[in-house]
Order: sequence, then structure tokens, then C-alpha cells
Amino acid sequence: MKASYFEKHGGPEVLQYGELPDPTPESNEILIDIHAASVNGADWKVRTNQYGRPIDFPYILGRDFSGIVSALGSEAADFKVGDEVFGVCENGQEGTYAEKIAMDQKLVALKPSNLSHLDAASLALIGLTAIVSIEDCLQLQKDEKILIQGGAGGVAGFAIQLAKHIGAYVITTTSATNSDYVKALGADEVIDYKTQDFTEMVSDCDAVFDTVGGDVAMRSFEVIKSGGRAAFIASGFKAPDSPRDDVQSLRPDAQRSRARMERVAELASNGVVKIPERQIFSLSQAQEAHRISEGRHLRGKLLFEIKE
Ligand SMILES: NC(=O)c1ccc[n+]([C@@H]2O[C@H](COP(=O)([O-])OP(=O)(O)OC[C@H]3O[C@@H](n4cnc5c(N)ncnc54)[C@H](OP(=O)(O)O)[C@@H]3O)[C@@H](O)[C@H]2O)c1
Repeated sequence: MKASYFEKHGGPEVLQYGELPDPTPESNEILIDIHAASVNGADWKVRTNQYGRPIDFPYILGRDFSGIVSALGSEAADFKVGDEVFGVCENGQEGTYAEKIAMDQKLVALKPSNLSHLDAASLALIGLTAIVSIEDCLQLQKDEKILIQGGAGGVAGFAIQLAKHIGAYVITTTSATNSDYVKALGADEVIDYKTQDFTEMVSDCDAVFDTVGGDVAMRSFEVIKSGGRAAFIASGFKAPDSPRDDVQSLRPDAQRSRARMERVAELASNGVVKIPERQIFSLSQAQEAHRISEGRHLRGKLLFEIKE
């Protein structure tokens, strides 16, 4: 199969495009012909070895996909050949920057017929992460006030729409260029982080969802009311230590499952969540896609169209 892969850690230039052996499904796995896959913020962090996790080379990146079932493991009976499915690889595994992947059937859901493969691939991991963060971890409620940091990114864009659907009041930060984009997603208030200090403009939030990390994450504690909570997805594997006794600091646990994929499918196919703005690449253009992702000013999603 054709794949984008790398044989040593490094900059975007280590990504190569070429032929690698086809995967073979284990008994509980299904083989999928991938039609579309997405680029996620974690991909360039794995490429540059930020997680320090040992990996076997050649290594194929990519966590989410949409495609068509092409073969079944001996005990995989949940789907049939020809089913259109989408999903997210198990935590700590990758491999969707490729024409094929074998994966556990329990991680995969049927793709809604009113979504294209590009649509489904663009939503899989960001949707899973936003659902886990907003619904399961923060347990956001109607009429609560939430600050979502980094509103123009993939996860935050999904989270804005989900928070509005729940009935919360949503404030988000972005640069001025993306202000109209996040308003169209439903944000009630937009703060231009380049010219405005959110700690001077926001207070008494019930919750904060931070997708930016670093100093932005730590300063977020200042705008939360007593008894409030904050969830962090860009500050490493653990939540930052809360500098306040009266505010919970949480790290969402984005466990993959078919049920969560079905929730993503439900929200998207019912129109609760729109398809993010996207830029589409071929697998041979992975270096270019990674340069944009690593620049950290992407609006929406980067996608690979692998098969039309
Ligand atoms: N833990 C998980 O399960 C999980 C899953 C997915 C993603 N993540 C992590 O979550 C983070 C977000 O990922 P993503 O793919 O959604 O988006 P992303 O591509 O990393 O985010 C880019 C966005 O961040 C905005 N941004 C950059 N600096 C900002 C600042 N100081 N204040 C406000 N906005 C700022 C940019 O907007 P402007 O251009 O307007 O600056 C851009 O729209 C990444 O670190 C990723 O690794 C974690």
C-alpha cells in the first residue's frame, strides 16, 4: 500500500511517501480501505519525539480516518465487507496516513450516509475529544458560562458548538482574523488574544476548556468562579496543578470507543455540529500539511484525501 511514513524523528522533511506492506487483520480486527484521514496536533509532536515514546520504524502517523471495510478477521462479525465506517485508533497507536489500516472493530462506527469520507475523517478525533471534555469531564450544564481557549482550532470549534447545543454561554479566544469564523460556530463573545487580555475581560466562569496550553492554561485559573472546573488537553498527560483550592483542574481521558464515534455521528448528521473549514492534501503532501499544523495557527482541519 502507499503510505506517508518516517524512519527517524525530525522536522517535516523526514516524512516520506512510498510503498509499505499491507496490514493483515487479527481475529478481532477489520481491514479498512482508507478514503480520508486527518492531521491532528499530536502528529507533529510524535514526529518530533515530544512524547519520548519508543516507536518502531518505518512509522505511519495518523489517528483518525473514514473508509470502507475490505476484509474481516476470523472473529470480527460486527461489520460486513463494503460497510462505510469511521473511527479513531486505540490510544498510543497510529497508522491512518495510509491506504489501508487493520483495527479493532470495537473502535469503529458506521459513517452516516449524509457525511462524506472527508467530513467524517475531519470530525472523528476532534469530536471524540470535545465530547469527552465538555460532556463527560466538565459536565457542562445549561446556562453555565464557559471560556474555550483557542476557538478556531479543530477541537475547540467542535466544543463551541457542543457547548451552545447544551445551552451554555460561550466565550472564546482567537486572533482577529478568525473572529467571524468562531462567531459563525456560535460563540457569544470573542476575545482577540493578540490585543486583549482575557483575564481582564472575563470573570466568574463556571468552566474553562483550554486547547492552547502553556501560559494561557495557567492564567485560565484566574477567570473561574469558586467551585468551578477547568479541563486541559494541551498541557501534557496530566492536568496542571491548580493554584486554587476552590477550582478543579481536570485532564479529559479521550478513550476511544464505538459509542463515542456514534455520538460524533449523531451530532454531525443532525446538524448540531458543522463540518470544520478544511484544507485538503494528498498523502504525498504530508510535509506541507505538517508545516501548517506545527505553525499552530490553523483554522479548522487539515485532511488527506486518499481515495475518491
Ligand atoms: N488530548 C487529546 O485528546 C487531544 C486531542 C486532540 C488535540 N489535542 C491537543 O489540543 C491542542 C489543540 O489541537 P487542535 O488540533 O484542536 O488545534 P490546533 O491546530 O493545535 O490549534 C490551532 C488554533 O489555536 C489557536 N491559537 C494559537 N495560539 C493561541 C492563543 N494564545 N490563544 C488562543 N488561540 C490560540 C489558533 O488560532 P489563531 O490562528 O487565531 O491564533 C489556531 O486556530 C493541541 O495541542 C493538540 O495536541 C489533544
